[in-house]
This record gives sequence, C-alpha cells and structure tokens, in this order.
Amino acid sequence: MTDLTAFAHGLPKAELHLHLEGTLEPELKFALAARNGIPLTEKTVDEVKATYDFTDLTSFLAVYYPAMQVLQTADDFFDLAWAYLQRAHAQGVVHAEMFFDPQAHTSRGVPFADVVTGYRRAAVRAQDELGISAELILCFLRDFSAEYAMATLMEALAYKSWIVGVGLDSDERGNPPEKFAAVFARAKAEGFFLTMHCDIDQVGSIDNIRTVLTGIEVDRIDHGTNIVEDPALVALAIEKGIGFTTCPVSNSFVTEQMKSDEIVALLRQGARVMVNSDDPAYFGAYIGDNYVAFAEKAELSATDLVQLAINSFEASWLTAGRRAAYIARVEDFATAAGVPLPARA
Ligand code: HPA
Ligand code: ZN
Repeated sequence: MTDLTAFAHGLPKAELHLHLEGTLEPELKFALAARNGIPLTEKTVDEVKATYDFTDLTSFLAVYYPAMQVLQTADDFFDLAWAYLQRAHAQGVVHAEMFFDPQAHTSRGVPFADVVTGYRRAAVRAQDELGISAELILCFLRDFSAEYAMATLMEALAYKSWIVGVGLDSDERGNPPEKFAAVFARAKAEGFFLTMHCDIDQVGSIDNIRTVLTGIEVDRIDHGTNIVEDPALVALAIEKGIGFTTCPVSNSFVTEQMKSDEIVALLRQGARVMVNSDDPAYFGAYIGDNYVAFAEKAELSATDLVQLAINSFEASWLTAGRRAAYIARVEDFATAAGVPLPARA
C-alpha cells in the first residue's frame, strides 16, 4: 500500500452516489439465493463475474436488475446494506447518503415496507456500531411511468423521516428529466432534497443537465460531467453550489474512460465535485479505491484528495453545523498526516 493509498482510504469522507442494490457481491447473492430457495444460472463467483461485461449503461442495467431477484425479505435488504456499510467504514466513509430503488422490488411483488425497513435497520446499526451517519435517498426508475413514480412517492410519505431525498436513475435514453417534473415538484413540496442522474455521454446529455439545473432545480446532480461542454452552465452550477457526484471507476465501465479530464476540469474551476463508488460490487471498487484510481490516473496530490473529501461534505444534505464538524475532521486528518490544506479550505 503506497502512502497515497493509505491516505485516500483513511481520509474521512462522505459517499453521496451509491446504489445499495449495486453493492450485491456474488457471495451474498449466493447466500440469499440459498436462503430464499431461488435457483441461479451461475454456480460460482467467477461465473457471476464473467457476466460483468459492460460496454454502456444499458448493458450494465441488463445484469444489475435480474440479480435483485434474490432480495426478498426485510432481512435480505438489511444484510445487503449492513455488508456495504461495513466495507464503506473500512474505506473511510463517515457519512453516507445511499440510493435505493424501491420500484425494482415493488414491481416484482416485494412490499415497499420490507425494503425500507430493512435498509433503515442497517442505517441505524451503522450509526450505533460504526459511527457512520447513514441516510436513504429514494430513486425512481426513469424507465417506468411518471404515474408509478408518483404512487411510489405517496407510499414513501409514511416513512418520510427515514428518507432524506429523492433521485432518478436507470436508463436515461428516451426518459428525460422533464418526464418527472411533477413528481419532483411534489417531492420538493414534501421537504425532500432533490437529485437526478445525468449519466455520461447520453443522447441529449447537455439538454438534460440544463433542465435539471434550471427547470427542476435539483440540489445535486449525479455524474453530470458532460456539463464541461457548456461553460455558461458550469458557471451557473458553481454559483448555485451544485454538487456533482462523480464515479470514475464506474465511468470506465460504461464509457471508454474514467472521464478524469472532465472531473479535474470541474475541480480546478471550483465546482463542488467529489468521488463516489456508484455500484461497487459490479465495478470492483469501493470509495477509497475510486479515490486511488482517480488520483493515479489524473496525477492528483494528497491536497487534491482533501479538497474532494471537503466537497463531499459541502455537497451533502447534512445541517450546516454537522457539515462543518465533518470538514474539521477532514482537516485534522490531513494536518496530522502532514498534508497541506487546499487554498479554499
Ligand atoms: N446510472 C443510472 N442508473 C443506475 C446507475 C447509474 O449510474 N447505477 C445504478 N442504476
Ligand atoms: Zn448511479
């Protein structure tokens, strides 16, 4: 382990772009399949990993959704999230705002209540035993209808205190953000924070980014690095303090590159970018691994990593006081390691 690797893993950080369903490691998939009596085509971990042959978002999603059939009960959702939170803890995560996809489960007959209570139990345990503050973000699947999204939002209202915000994921092609304008307006009125995926190199990426920034008025954008194509939009995002939850290793699976040039361009201009893991079981990299891979590719300094960690808290949905306390922890960690703080800190 190089010094930078140890520093990247130890740095206190927030994970803001993490799909709980994307943390399903093959070993847990086999255990849950056995527990629930579900036959699987693949018989070994290597056979499962051999199916991880993604070339774009669509081919990733074609593997991601069928795997979820092993998730049936509240205990299954608990086990999935608890396994993730322990791994995240080992890579320096002290705060996590985690996506979950209820419609990927309710659409196959699993009650919403079982999904959310299982995940919530893991979040509470993470606070008690690991000292991680963990929150849930409900993501609507954009390839389902706006009506189904609205019905899901209505169902979520009974669990409002367990859900910090709402997001939008799945296949962006043909499912632009405006399809969900009314759902997001209602979610905002109910007090939820808003974020939406603007996936990398989509048809109409820049138009979709403009819509989420100026029409939907989200609080954050997931991925969204195509914004560098429009300097006026970058300036607007910086003025609004919009966070960009980038995922370098994920990018290298669903496109030809990590998009490190785009992420660095945003970082150097002072945009609130940070690094996250997206679907770590599928892309083979948890958050610390993403910091290291990106740092190596873009030749970042330890001070740059400190800026990314600070940005992760600044873009979080914590209260101002809790954000400041976490940022002080980042700065103390850097100072103890002899790493200069960034100029803006
Ligand atoms: N984009 C869209 N949908 C997803 C993703 C993503 O990065 N991860 C899991 N579902
Ligand atoms: Zn994502």
